Amino acid sequence: MELNRRTVIAGATAAGIAAGAGGTAHAAGGSRPVKELFGSLTDGTKVHRWSLANGGTRLKVLSYGGIVQALEISDRRGRYANVSLGFDNLADYVSSSPYFGALVGRYGNRLDKGRFTLDGRTYQLSVNDGENTLHGGAQGFDKRVWDVEPFVKGTDVGLYLRYTSADGEMGFPGTLRTKVTYTLTRHGDWRIDYEATTDRATVVNLTSHVYWNLAGESSGTVYDHQLAIEASRFTPVDAGLIPTGELARVAGTPFDFRRAKSVGEDIRVPHQQVLYGQGLDHNWVLDKGITSRPEHIATLRDPSSGRTLRIATNEPGLQFYSGNFLDGTLTGSGGSVYRQGDGLCLETQHFPDSPNQPAFPSTVLRPGRTYRTSTVHSFDV
Ligand code: GLA
Repeated sequence: MELNRRTVIAGATAAGIAAGAGGTAHAAGGSRPVKELFGSLTDGTKVHRWSLANGGTRLKVLSYGGIVQALEISDRRGRYANVSLGFDNLADYVSSSPYFGALVGRYGNRLDKGRFTLDGRTYQLSVNDGENTLHGGAQGFDKRVWDVEPFVKGTDVGLYLRYTSADGEMGFPGTLRTKVTYTLTRHGDWRIDYEATTDRATVVNLTSHVYWNLAGESSGTVYDHQLAIEASRFTPVDAGLIPTGELARVAGTPFDFRRAKSVGEDIRVPHQQVLYGQGLDHNWVLDKGITSRPEHIATLRDPSSGRTLRIATNEPGLQFYSGNFLDGTLTGSGGSVYRQGDGLCLETQHFPDSPNQPAFPSTVLRPGRTYRTSTVHSFDV
């Protein structure tokens, strides 16, 4: 990795990321997003970092993977912290990122044995997680360079991110034209709108893989964060984390977050599902189901700083992953080593392995239709 860093990557590093309140010079209100060079890939492709700010939220986004490299919000005393895990250099994102902050596609989460059948034809995909496909295969959307266009619209500021996935890429059928919009509103909400069209029937499940730590990345584990999820059921998995097809009740299990509880409270309960996930790494079946507009589904709160994240989505599922596979081998943007539980992901989505589970809501996209989903992250103290 050292070799990579020195020989492969040119360009700016992320000085100022962890610098706190004074570290970034954004005007109050919706200033135009600013672009700078972040690094270059081995083939010479330049990767840029876009900085935007609005309503007290500051976002730094890479053209590589649409990665949220930093998301800064203040605590109740006005102190800013980067509440999203990441790296300060491109080489680490390329070589060893566990999807830090990334846009995930074409199919977020797992597909059993990297295979599915659609309209009588079976597709074999790139397999990258044991015998399964995870997050779109070995070179998913998180490892692609997106075309980024900034915008200021009324009181909103944001970025359009576009990527066209070729027919057959990672084994998926259909040319998928993807457009993701990151918007910061004047209230400081971060909204994601996903859109996609195809020229052949395919499956799509796009999500965002931010690792949250509302006390600030590098501050230790998130086990004392309070989490509430509006879901009475979850999808139990097998040892390879593929859903069994059952929609099990959360009542009386470690998976019951209907009333806020601390993330760490039941993480050491020797429940078979917790053992499979080495913690929590499951899809919650949201009580509201699929909705036409984003509706509130989860609240995460750090008692020490008061920082609170509220999530609304129109998706039917939420993958809550408690950072179980962080193992002390990665150094984060703030200079600390990331260990198990140092961040958690709340990935709004359709259920894992839906193409192989006829009873799950469909993830099929056909020509002439537009895939559209939205998720809104609101911050508060
Ligand atoms: C997802 C999965 C986890 C893990 C992480 C990346 O959220 O559900 O099992 O693979 O991505 O480390």
